[in-house]
Amino acid sequence: MSRITDLNIDDIKDSDLLKGFDFDNYTEGDKQRWKALLAGVLEAQDGVACHSYTSGMARLGESFSELPNLAELNDKLERLTGWKVMAVNGLLPCEDFYKLLSRKIFPSATFVRDWHSQAFTGYPDIFHDVVGHLPLFFDPKFSDFVSKSSGVIYEILKNTPNGSGDKEMLIQYFSRYGWFTWEAGLIKEHGTVRAYGGAILSSSGETENLKKRGYDDFDLMEVFNQSYTDKEFSCRYFAINSYDDLFASLEAIKTRFGITDSIN
Ligand SMILES: [Fe+2]
Repeated sequence: MSRITDLNIDDIKDSDLLKGFDFDNYTEGDKQRWKALLAGVLEAQDGVACHSYTSGMARLGESFSELPNLAELNDKLERLTGWKVMAVNGLLPCEDFYKLLSRKIFPSATFVRDWHSQAFTGYPDIFHDVVGHLPLFFDPKFSDFVSKSSGVIYEILKNTPNGSGDKEMLIQYFSRYGWFTWEAGLIKEHGTVRAYGGAILSSSGETENLKKRGYDDFDLMEVFNQSYTDKEFSCRYFAINSYDDLFASLEAIKTRFGITDSIN
């Protein structure tokens, strides 16, 4: 779920985050597709979205009623959550992706998906990145989990030789970990199960798929061993009891790989 950029992220400045992004390049068609997407997803989210998402949406959602200008959105997001969006145009190398997240910089696509991909897109667009993920960053615990877990994963990957079988395996494990948590994750709330995963919360089709499928209790080893593709609806969903479960899984990862602290 990472994308390419031409920036050196070791030397990134605030002024670099939206380099090359020009809101004036959006067409009327882009703006109309955004509005249609939002209407469909808001309807689909009803009774599905978790509390931390809906409360973040209440604080940021008005920024989404029209296709947002990332420059304006960034001011508000940073002031309220400490996160900033970086506009990117493709897949980032894995380590760069985790390093950015560990610094609370969220890489976002800038294109708006076409009409044929309204219910689902296998390639994340600005709607997925912004509407699916940003509201959750208003929850300090979840926000902390994303930045801290990314820091830990970055450290582990950095210390594993490039091109080795171990590295390929770890990249796969951590992709699954990300997919079944912040993309397709569920959380138990007040006797019901709700979604905190951005792939669900930005896709009316994924929401329908979730309603048809059951879910399993979150288990780190099961997640590590569960293959998936982000080009189709999720094959499984895992539910946590609270965000504490995510931190417990992160502690298990740190212990397994001898990480004493993250880069944060
Ligand atoms: Fe995503």
